[in-house]
Amino acid sequence: MTVSKILSLKGKTKLAMLTAYDFLSAKILEKAGTDIILVGDSLGTAIMGYPNTLPVTVDQMIYHTYAVRRGAPQSLVVADMPFMSYGASMEEGIRNAGRFLKEAGANAVKLEGGEERSELIRAMTGLGIPVMGHIGLLPQSVNRSGYRIAGKTDSETKELIDDAAALEKAGVFAMVIEGTTEEAAKAVTDSVGVPTIGIGAGRFTDGQVLVLADMLGLDPDTNFKHNKRYADLYLPFSEAVSAYIGEVKSGKFPGEDQTAHQTSK
Ligand code: KIV
Repeated sequence: MTVSKILSLKGKTKLAMLTAYDFLSAKILEKAGTDIILVGDSLGTAIMGYPNTLPVTVDQMIYHTYAVRRGAPQSLVVADMPFMSYGASMEEGIRNAGRFLKEAGANAVKLEGGEERSELIRAMTGLGIPVMGHIGLLPQSVNRSGYRIAGKTDSETKELIDDAAALEKAGVFAMVIEGTTEEAAKAVTDSVGVPTIGIGAGRFTDGQVLVLADMLGLDPDTNFKHNKRYADLYLPFSEAVSAYIGEVKSGKFPGEDQTAHQTSK
């Protein structure tokens, strides 16, 4: 999968994107035919246990992106640029984006924001760094805007359409639309020539993305309205761990099958 293939698929087939942060998950995602693997900064909450994505660093993202690349060598791997890795200056943003391609083997980067990011995105794409945009609810701006659904009015929808147009003009190959009304996401999708990938943005975007831990049902304590659990892996996971603990304590594990013996004296 390449960014130009993704672009060419708009209107032809729906795109299925999922997050991954490690080698084994990436391997499963690639084998299953996931169109795009996103190493999201959602690793802050899903993997690191932070309250939000803000503490995630470039080095953490590079470490996880490298693991995903090794698990999914043929896939289109997009690395999320974390908070403050591209906001302070153009130069710092470009250097950090370049690190994802050079050091981690990512095919593209994703960053949050609309029109205000267009100059930076144009510079990145000009240097050969493919960029995925991200508009709507912006988790990295939680301290400014909270986790508020966007596109509730005509004027908010117009703002989203303007942001999407600016991103498209700046050269993004696709954009995430997060946490908007379905009507706004559809209007944006109809207004741009690049694929839109929704999360909590209704049914009419060109593709969908979910956070892997959420769709696998790994955490019984979180469930978001936008999420659908395709499995409840918390249960078999915790049952397997309990069974192991029980067998170690009772002396049942390791058994004869897991044991080596001397073959000669
Ligand atoms: O960090 C992430 O996983 C994301 C997706 C939810 C789009 O940005």
